[in-house]
Amino acid sequence: MVPLGQEQIVELRQPKEELIALMQQGIAKELAVSVQYMWHHVMGKGLASPSFRKLIRDISIVEMKHAEAIADRLDYFGAAPTTKPVEIKVGGDLEKMISDDLESERDAITLYRQIVAKADSEGDVVTRNLFEDILAAEEEHEAQFSALLAE
Ligand SMILES: [Fe+2]
Ligand SMILES: [Fe+2]
Repeated sequence: MVPLGQEQIVELRQPKEELIALMQQGIAKELAVSVQYMWHHVMGKGLASPSFRKLIRDISIVEMKHAEAIADRLDYFGAAPTTKPVEIKVGGDLEKMISDDLESERDAITLYRQIVAKADSEGDVVTRNLFEDILAAEEEHEAQFSALLAE
């Protein structure tokens, strides 16, 4: 079999500008929450803090893995992943931190539902599957933070 030339590889991988832009937004959010959650792990004080600090540390690492997975997919499309996070929200009391974290998860859910729909409309099954998995994790985080605020 004759190896594919660069142009054919680009054609096969079908880089899609709009989808790539949305995925860059995803990376920017994942980078931000990785830091935000790890700092909340470090800074969280108060009666409920031991369970929160353990949870938020674990989730911080999950978010960094999301950044890696999206970066890998962008690399496949021939796009360099952004290094710029969206706003990182740190500080305040425990309730403020959890509210900020909940808001970040809800933002991510909105974006990832959009990416799943976009990837689906382009017939890009692999990107759709990737973001379905990430979306499921964000919905779980959203539920965990909601539950903490309800306690
Ligand atoms: Fe994430
Ligand atoms: Fe999350």
